[in-house]
Amino acid sequence: MSRLILTDYEISMKTGFLLDEPLTRLPPYFDPWTRLALSLVKHIENKTLRDEIPKLPVLDVSCLSGEKEVKLAHMQLAFITSGYLWMDFTDVPKVLPPPLAVPLYAMYEKYGMAPVITYADVILSNAVFKDPNRPASVENLAAIVAIPGRSQWDWFFAVGAMAELDFGAAMKSFQNVLDGIDEGDQDKMALSLNQLADAVLNMKKTASRYHEQLSSEGFFPKLSIFFSGYDMEPLPDGLIFEGVKDEPVKMAGANAGQSPIFKSLDALCGIQIREDRHQYTQTVCEYLYPSHRKLIADLRQRPVQLKSVVESSGNSELKASFNNLIQAVTTFRSYHVQLVTKYFVLGMKKNLPEEDLNALKPVKEFTMSYVKGMRDDCKKSMTSK
Ligand code: HEM
Repeated sequence: MSRLILTDYEISMKTGFLLDEPLTRLPPYFDPWTRLALSLVKHIENKTLRDEIPKLPVLDVSCLSGEKEVKLAHMQLAFITSGYLWMDFTDVPKVLPPPLAVPLYAMYEKYGMAPVITYADVILSNAVFKDPNRPASVENLAAIVAIPGRSQWDWFFAVGAMAELDFGAAMKSFQNVLDGIDEGDQDKMALSLNQLADAVLNMKKTASRYHEQLSSEGFFPKLSIFFSGYDMEPLPDGLIFEGVKDEPVKMAGANAGQSPIFKSLDALCGIQIREDRHQYTQTVCEYLYPSHRKLIADLRQRPVQLKSVVESSGNSELKASFNNLIQAVTTFRSYHVQLVTKYFVLGMKKNLPEEDLNALKPVKEFTMSYVKGMRDDCKKSMTSK
């Protein structure tokens, strides 16, 4: 069995799935995108963004080179697209003009990156340290590209990015679990599983800081509107990518359900997800970077699976550390249900008129049943053997 090496999957041993030292500018050929992306908030607030799009040239994405340029380019295009669509949500365009549509779709065809704003754009490729000489903290993180909402956005972003960094700090432990399986080293596995559990609990601690400076009114729909896709009202049939194809393109919006962390932990631990939820989770994976999507698939296909190694080992310490990790993931997911309730469900209730609330009832019910169901599937995966 060949060794699975996490760094082969666009993962950093320092920052995990979060891009380590991302670029903040593209080469000069792409300056029209960079300029617009960096002044997005101003253009949205002044309502001038829609006038700027027809002035953009249609740039060729084959001039991009390397992972960091490609990720930054997608992020810029995705944010500008979101601003273009949602800056005035009483009048949402049904057609995306060629300067955005052509390169965004070309990136989908060439690199397999979804032609819509994703969690990877919002968080994973967007984080820089305010002071690179100071340690990682919520206070020391800033976004390269921002959306309106000022301090609420800054806080929402920084807490989310810090939660990724909490997990990133344990990437070596993730690698050690995999190596421990290959080497038959049960002590290494047990120690590393406990370290992963600690990292997940640190994520929960960080996530509890949302409440310090993010209100449900601040989140929904003021920020969340910019994470919308093109698959429900006012774009139920999708968005036309002008200059690309005639049929509308349907894409879901972004949320942290697209973080690769829990999907890779589910795959590592062999968590059995109920079939309908598993199917839905697979569709969510289409919005991950292809490298991260491949990691999840490769973990699930490893011929020797962690859970069976733990169960056949007869090693109570190893079993306890496996269950410790499952417990930590369940704890995070339980807490996450509270976050979704406050920011999504209550945010909706407080801030939407009655008729919109009724229209979104099925979405609300599906979401709650999904996040609770994932928590329950996880809890059931503890081993008793
Ligand atoms: C304000 C904070 C947050 C809100 C409002 C929120 C909202 C949501 C929503 C609405 C979903 C359902 C997505 C869907 O139906 O496709 C979801 C799923 C999910 N979110 Fe969050 N989320 C938040 C923070 C986080 C954080 C910090 C993480 C960790 C990286 C996270 C991880 C997940 C995961 C893994 C799922 C998929 C369900 C599961 O596997 O348990 N969320 N979230």
